[in-house]
Amino acid sequence: MTQYQTVTSTETSLRDGTIKLHGPEAFEGMRKAGRLAAEILDALVPFVQVGVTTGEIDDLVREMTIAGGAVPATLGYRGYAHSCCVSINHVVCHGIPGDKQLKDGDIVNIDVTPLLDGWHGDSSRMYLVGDVPLKARRLVDVTYECLMLGIEQVKPGARLGDIGAAIQRHAESQRYGVVREFCGHGLGRLFHDAPEVVHAARAGTGPELRPGMFFTIEPMINLGKAPVKMLDDGWTAVTRDRSLSAQFEHSIGVTETGCEVFTLSPKGLDRPPY
Ligand code: MF3
Ligand code: CO
Ligand code: CO
Repeated sequence: MTQYQTVTSTETSLRDGTIKLHGPEAFEGMRKAGRLAAEILDALVPFVQVGVTTGEIDDLVREMTIAGGAVPATLGYRGYAHSCCVSINHVVCHGIPGDKQLKDGDIVNIDVTPLLDGWHGDSSRMYLVGDVPLKARRLVDVTYECLMLGIEQVKPGARLGDIGAAIQRHAESQRYGVVREFCGHGLGRLFHDAPEVVHAARAGTGPELRPGMFFTIEPMINLGKAPVKMLDDGWTAVTRDRSLSAQFEHSIGVTETGCEVFTLSPKGLDRPPY
């Protein structure tokens, strides 16, 4: 049975499986953390070009996160030693920054998580490098639509499964594969908390959405089949069939009437081309 717990903005958060219900001060904290995540993703736009290395992108993210008064939540997280994830082409998620250079035609996901005043803002977007083939651009477009269709489902009384159902329906209508191995997640004081937000589900199933819930929606959609494979580094997930994969992520809060998206771009750069 799903357990909900009303929490104050200052109490210690435990990963105890309960779904936290937050008040106005927590919304204010998430608004600030989410805005910083969005500003970082906005500021990266001019740098995501042919020849830049994923490590250089990581350096920029770290500097901007710290300049914004936050720390990258990924730095030291379960042994992860970087400030963001950079996932290129067939990399589904958790691409590790390093020496690899971006090249013409790449599609790239950059995922940032500033931890600001104890609140996590978690967001990712796709970037198009140079001349991207139409098939890849369509995958990116449809993946963005999947995220927004999922968000449209969010209101009190809806079920968590409604989100995954909307995403799966749209992705599979294009014969794309919806990744099952990774999910959205509750967040707030914690980076990864209950509930798991699956991106393929049956409508009307799962926990009821209630005002004050915070979670991410972050569909990973593959041009080919859905299964993923882990690389030996223990982090990088790639499509098993080596097909392209795209992802967008927003952090949201359930309100009395619908939801608030904490990670919207102040510059309107939510969806490429930028
Ligand atoms: N930001 C990712 C998410 O959306 C998590 C990255 S964890 C890391 O949940 F350790 F790989 F960075
Ligand atoms: Co996330
Ligand atoms: Co993320």
